[in-house]
Amino acid sequence: MIEQTLILIKPDGVQRALIGKILSRFEDAGLKIIGMKMQWVDEEFAEKHYKDIKERYDEKIFNNLSEYIREGPVLAIVLEGVSAIPIVRKMVGSTYPSEAQPGTIRGDYSHISKEHANKHNKKVGNLIHASADEKDAKHEINLWFTKEELHTYTRTDEFHLV
Ligand code: TYD
Repeated sequence: MIEQTLILIKPDGVQRALIGKILSRFEDAGLKIIGMKMQWVDEEFAEKHYKDIKERYDEKIFNNLSEYIREGPVLAIVLEGVSAIPIVRKMVGSTYPSEAQPGTIRGDYSHISKEHANKHNKKVGNLIHASADEKDAKHEINLWFTKEELHTYTRTDEFHLV
């Protein structure tokens, strides 16, 4: 099934100049970029984006996360493709970079562990966000993008797939 999913390259990913490398991975995997924008997040928007986190985890995790996402501009991208939601999650890797497999974005470019982050009260800088499931993808895409900001076009390699 063709799905759409939301990616955020978080402030550390932008500041470490990893945008090109990260986008290349998705493009190389055949995922189509159908929307993209750079934006600062404010407190109110962070709360809307991470509304489930507040319910799922504790206030401290939410506050750290809200601070982290507001450290600098983020790049928001909507990707489209066959089973895009689970495929992108696989490419992103585990939440804690030290647990993420080599070959995943978090495993290749970030290394902080949960224990280190907790001990030193540091954020879990894991570079990227990806929608967890269909429900989250729908909510997040609607939150970040208007209909007019999402585009329809054919990638040249789509001709080779049929
Ligand atoms: P989650 O949605 O569980 O992870 P993922 O980003 O892999 O989908 O959590 C969202 C973010 O919350 C995660 O990227 C980092 C942060 N977080 C912490 O900082 N500490 C934690 O203990 C957890 C569970 C998450």
